[in-house]
Amino acid sequence: MEPLWTEIDHVAIAVRDLDAAAAWYERAFGARVVHREVVERDGVAEALLAVADSYVQLLTPTRDDSPVARFLATRGEGLHHVGYRVADCAAALAAVRAQGGRVIDEAPRPGSRGTTVAFVHPSAAFGTLIELVEDPAA
Ligand code: CO
Repeated sequence: MEPLWTEIDHVAIAVRDLDAAAAWYERAFGARVVHREVVERDGVAEALLAVADSYVQLLTPTRDDSPVARFLATRGEGLHHVGYRVADCAAALAAVRAQGGRVIDEAPRPGSRGTTVAFVHPSAAFGTLIELVEDPAA
């Protein structure tokens, strides 16, 4: 079959201080923040650093009960999830489920920057939290 993914959309890193982390990437890699957004539903603020056609997504919680806040409390800063860019989020989600993948989102939902996303649980994905990302602008 044709691959369902087309690109690594982003690598997401949970941090305590978004501005400090973004500034470090700017200094260390000459990286550029191309997008910032607060996603209230998920309780996160993000800064996207462009890497060719992909991104490093720095994430920090906006409230104490958000999943990223719990992640920081239990695991500390570090790699949080990998976003795979797909042409059709619903089709990719169905394909993952057909392979026994446990999903967090039962149906695709709005993500940041106008994307449509769905998360796959790490317990059925060899330990990695996966985000399926359909980006109409890509
Ligand atoms: Co993400």
